[in-house]
Order: sequence, then structure tokens, then C-alpha cells
Amino acid sequence: MPYPTSTALRSPPAAPSREPYKLYGQTYPLDTHSNLPPTIISKLDRGLLTHPSHPLSILRQIIQDHFASATSIVHPNPVVSVFQNFDELGFPADHPGRAVTDSYYLNKDYMLRAHTSAHEVETYRSGLDHWLLSADVYRRDEIDASHYPVFHQMEGTHVWSESELDALPALNAKLAADLAGCPLVIEDTTQISPSNPYQPSHDPRHAAQITQHLKHSLNSLIFRLFGGVAQSGGEPLRVRWIEAFFPFTTPSYEVEVWWGGEWLELLGCGVVMQKTLDLAGQSHKSGWAFGLGLERIAMVLYNIPDIRLFWSTDARFLSQFKPGQITQFKPYSKYPPCHKDMSFWLPEATVAVEAGSEAGGAGEGVTKVEAGRRVFHENDYCEIVREVAGDLVETVTLIDDFTHPKSKRQSKCYRLNYRSMDRSLSNEEVNALQDQVQKRVVSEMGIEMR
Ligand code: DAH
Repeated sequence: MPYPTSTALRSPPAAPSREPYKLYGQTYPLDTHSNLPPTIISKLDRGLLTHPSHPLSILRQIIQDHFASATSIVHPNPVVSVFQNFDELGFPADHPGRAVTDSYYLNKDYMLRAHTSAHEVETYRSGLDHWLLSADVYRRDEIDASHYPVFHQMEGTHVWSESELDALPALNAKLAADLAGCPLVIEDTTQISPSNPYQPSHDPRHAAQITQHLKHSLNSLIFRLFGGVAQSGGEPLRVRWIEAFFPFTTPSYEVEVWWGGEWLELLGCGVVMQKTLDLAGQSHKSGWAFGLGLERIAMVLYNIPDIRLFWSTDARFLSQFKPGQITQFKPYSKYPPCHKDMSFWLPEATVAVEAGSEAGGAGEGVTKVEAGRRVFHENDYCEIVREVAGDLVETVTLIDDFTHPKSKRQSKCYRLNYRSMDRSLSNEEVNALQDQVQKRVVSEMGIEMR
């Protein structure tokens, strides 16, 4: 993956405040990586996962009840070392998720966790074998109804010491029998192969039992979450397993559910890389892990149309949800949107990068980077929009992309759609926001309005 190693060539991320960051009793000196804007700092400690009638907290609790014997952890402090988030888990040095355009850095050594897997090693180190760890995670991203720079993940895992592995065939037989009684169609043509192998240090019989336990456990969770609703339509629930790649598992899978006429990706999972357990001082154990995004699941289960709603403090939102239950969200009002377009020329000799790379994921989506050239990254643009407009911006969409035939200069036009979730916005208010975005992108990204 071609990826510039010098951050100096990139468009600067959101201008950091001059003061070192002081978070959770620690001071983090600033450097060229620092890119944590005040809007993100204001999202720390909102505690959505522990609010008893918040849909994310209710969903978390339902998953915990399903894995009744797992230890439940809600991890409070999102600051992790870059080593914990990436290196310890085997992410290569040039992984796109590491870019300052994709993750939030306090400085070159510390960041806000981009996934809950960042806590795997420390949690295994504590000696726990079966746990669910939920937390807020942070990624710089595009702006639309399903992307928000803070979201919530749950990491789940079950590992066994060598002697305990002998119990797995019986456990698997019981899980398989339970699943056989459910109206569930599992589409799984995945195979162990050179592209998705067992680990050399594992006895293949053990690895096969662990993989089976992983599959049964997650199929059963998915049926618990989605089965009730699907059954009411009379059709069995369809779940699909796909081969995947994660640096910290093999074999690895992604799991999807057939929902609303399309395949919805739910989670990533696999057999824990032995190196992870070795680092945690647990070499004698092996097992599986998964990571899922709570918002993505909650949005479809509760029918919540916009990810910003999870941050609403409006009683009309929060009063709708009851612990232990998944109910359909009833929109209380939809205020009119107001869109404004912004056309600009990129600085000369700029290469554009679209948003959409995934920290922690397979890592596609970063394209067209040429060494020695300045980079316009959509995530930097969106970050400035969020800083100015906060939750008043609903979507930012590229509607035109043009290269002048003679000068070869590139221009872009973005449509910024503004809409508040709890009041009407005046045209003047929106104009003032658009004006402020314009001023900041001109001064911070070196672009020129058309
Ligand atoms: N951390 C991954 C992500 O954010 C998800 C994941 C994949 C977690 C596989 C896991 C796993 O524990 O085994 O995309």
C-alpha cells in the first residue's frame, strides 16, 4: 500500500490548540501528530454505554446477557499508546489506519483508541479468559447518516488453556443442537486455506474446535439479536460468513446478516493470534475473539435513522427506550434540511484522497498518493466542517470533481447539508456556518474558492 511516511507533505490536520492536552490526569506534549479538536474532547466521558435507558447501553446489556458467563468491562479511558492500538496487534508500519488523517493523535506516541482490540493484550494479561469489553472508539471519517467520529465497539473473546480445550467437542455439540432448532440459514462456504490458515503453532484439531465454537457462539448471538424480528415475517434469518484478514487473528472472518433486502456487515472475528496471548503472558491458552460496532447494529434494530441521534440529550429520544427491550424508534419530528455548496480549487500539485479507509479493518480506500506531492484528504475537510458546525451538519457529499484540461488544476464541489435534530435552522445561521467553514478551509488547507 503506497502511503507517505512524511506527514509534512499532507494537508495539516485540524489546528491543534497550543496547550499540551491534559486528559485523565496526564499531560501529553504536542508534536506534529497532535490533531485532537475541541469538538472531540467534548465527547469524552459522555457515558452512553452506562446510561440505563440509552439504546447503546441496552444493546450492550442484551449481548452481555446472551454471553452470561463472560466478564463485562466498560473501559473508561480512551487514551492508548500507538503501540497498543497498532504495533502490539501486528499492524504493519504502513497501515493506512495509522495516518493522521484517519486517527486522532495526542502526539506521536498516544492516540484515542480506534478500536476496542487495543485493550486485548492488557485484558488477557489480567488473566481473564472470557470477557466482553465495550468502549467509545474514535476515527476521523466522512460525514453522513452512519459515520460519526466517535462510536462504540464491543470486543468479545473466549480463550482456554490446553487442558480445557478437550471440553470443546461436547460444548460444540450442545451449541450445534441448540442452533439446529432455530429458523436460521447459515451460508458458510469459507475454508481453511493458505489465504486464511490455522496458525502453525496450533494443533489443527484444536484450531478447528475453536473455530467451530466461535461460529456457533456468534450465530447464536446474531439469532438472539435479529431472529425475533425476522421470524415475524415468516422467513428464516440468513447469516453469511466471509473470509477476512486481520493482523491479530487467523483464520479470520466477517459475518453479515440479510436485513432490509441487503447484506449488512456485523462484525469481524477470528482465532486469536498466538503472539497476542504470548505478549500477555498467556502462551498456554488459545481461543477466539470478535469485534462489533454497536451503533451499526442498534441503528437497524431500533430503526434509528441518523447516528447523531445517539448523542441527543432530548427526552423525546431517550424516553423511548426501556432496558432489556429492543423497540422501534418513533421519529418525533424532522426539521427541514438546508444545503449549501462549496466549490474550490485545490492548491497546485495536490493529490486528492477520498475518505473511507478503515483503521483496524482490512484497510482499503486510501488511493492516489504520490510521493512528494501535497495531499488533500477529505477527512481533513470534514473535520473542519464538524468543528464549525458540530452536529448541525448532516452530510457532506462530493458532487463535482473537475480537472481543468489545460492547467490540470483540480477543483471539487462539496454539498454541505445542514439539519438540526431538535429545531429549525435559519438561513442566516446556516450562511454564517458555511462562511466560517469557508474561511477555515482556505486558511488551513490552502484551497482557493471558485
Ligand atoms: N478491531 C476490528 C475493527 O475495528 C474488529 C475485529 C476483528 C475485532 C477481528 C476482533 C477480531 O477481535 O478478532 O475493525
